[in-house]
Amino acid sequence: MKKILIINGPNLNMLGKRPKEHYGALTLDQINDLIKEEAKGYFDVDFYQSNYEGDIVTKIQQAIGIYEAIVINPGAYTHTSVAIHDALEIYDGTKIEVHLSKVDEREDFRKINYIRSVCDQTFAGMFEGSYIEAIKYLKNMK
Ligand code: DQA
Repeated sequence: MKKILIINGPNLNMLGKRPKEHYGALTLDQINDLIKEEAKGYFDVDFYQSNYEGDIVTKIQQAIGIYEAIVINPGAYTHTSVAIHDALEIYDGTKIEVHLSKVDEREDFRKINYIRSVCDQTFAGMFEGSYIEAIKYLKNMK
């Protein structure tokens, strides 16, 4: 079975405690269970969360040749990280950008996005549904 990697960046380990109007009510573990359910029979799914930019860069580098696709919510690094942009540019599989919130309709600093230009698709603004749509998109690509 093809392998996919879900990467979550800083503060996404705190879901459940973050503002629910932007991020919904579920914890990251609960979201990961929904992702597993959606991917069942199609993909082996691995999950990675880090609050550290360099660790995320290393994980993306290590995904080359192993994972068919990366689904990434870079959290606040979306708006700051040239390093994650460059790592995703090198990665040769499918890349899906995900956000729980309507990130393009929030503060001006969240409108700066270093990630989108190196991703194949974006799903945002649907809380945990953004991740589920990403998995459905990958299923349809098969
Ligand atoms: C986020 C949006 C980012 O602006 C924010 O810093 C996050 C989460 C989202 O999922 O909506 O931590 O990526």
